[in-house]
Amino acid sequence: MTAATQATTSTAAAAPPAVTIRDLTIVYRTPAGELPAVSGVDLDLPPGTITGLVGESGSGKSTLALSLLGAVQRPGRIAAGSIHVDGLGNLVELSAKSLQEARGGEIGYVFQAAQNSLNPLKTVGKQLLDLGRSHGVRDRTALVRSAKELLAGMGLDAARVLDSYQHELSGGMRQRVGIMFALVLNAHVLVLDEPTTALDMISQANVLKIVRAVHTERGLTTLLVTHDIGVVAEVAERIAVMYGGVVVEQGETADVLRAPKHPYARALINAIPRVSGDLSAARPLPGRPPTLGTIPTRGCVFRERCAVYAERQLPACVAEQPPLAPVADGSGRLVACHAVAVEDQQATGETA
Ligand SMILES: Nc1ncnc2c1ncn2[C@@H]1O[C@H](COP(=O)(O)OP(=O)(O)OP(=O)(O)O)[C@@H](O)[C@H]1O
Ligand SMILES: [Mg+2]
Repeated sequence: MTAATQATTSTAAAAPPAVTIRDLTIVYRTPAGELPAVSGVDLDLPPGTITGLVGESGSGKSTLALSLLGAVQRPGRIAAGSIHVDGLGNLVELSAKSLQEARGGEIGYVFQAAQNSLNPLKTVGKQLLDLGRSHGVRDRTALVRSAKELLAGMGLDAARVLDSYQHELSGGMRQRVGIMFALVLNAHVLVLDEPTTALDMISQANVLKIVRAVHTERGLTTLLVTHDIGVVAEVAERIAVMYGGVVVEQGETADVLRAPKHPYARALINAIPRVSGDLSAARPLPGRPPTLGTIPTRGCVFRERCAVYAERQLPACVAEQPPLAPVADGSGRLVACHAVAVEDQQATGETA
């Protein structure tokens, strides 16, 4: 299907695509040489789900999200691995032209700080026509109709918004305009990078409700990047936790939040002060997250801040980064931790 026909056909027909990332490494060129921001990452976005990607600042979330758009740019490059999207193939092997078509076409995105990504000198409507032109959309009437439907569906006065400049829109409105741009060419994969960070609580709740609604209505496969676990708890059925360029735990949100297994996931989740609970119960994670040059190159990336390593000093934690592997409880949860693997082995040994 061409972009031109995509803009006029219903989204309901196509099944949501699965996204499968395997052993993905992304490096940035720095004065100290090429350093990995994403190291050997495996990540699955099952069709029709919202996956929340969380982790502290600098853990590699945006870098990973950009790779899904084929948009890792110099000084960054994909050094190894694959990103398979149903219907598109392995993005790492696509030509620049196919990637450009996919980006904003089959794969919609709302960037971190999308607030500021609109062009201040052009109305929203003008930018919509620019987007259509860059994707070879011939039927401008259908394109504008799709945009108006999306905007109205998000509770906006569509005609007014299309006539507006960025400065005439509130933060929450700009974010909804960003979502309209992401979906107007009928994307089936949606990547949102910190879509609500700059918003007040009420606008944040509204935007999340909208994300959930458009995701369900349009049958999307969605990756939602955020440092806010509360956001994930609210809208994402799956969660992936990143630390130092590595996905350390992945599973059903409810499961992981109830009983995180990786010591970092546990620390991150225990560090949240519950709104209704006791502030003193929140335990901040000591130490600082690593930056590009300080991610340990040998052994587990989390070792230096790990309470379990501090107590048990497993030699494996010093020797190699543990692979992301299924835990023994059969829940489908994946965890990259030597201590968890050892406990699983002991438990299985005892029951065998
Ligand atoms: N253009 C760049 N050149 C060099 N290093 C970069 C570049 N962009 C990102 N990095 C580094 O790569 C690492 C991962 O950055 P990234 O922006 O992906 O993290 P993040 O998890 O999205 O953080 P945040 O929560 O602050 O948005 C960081 O150490 C960052 O400093
Ligand atoms: Mg980021």
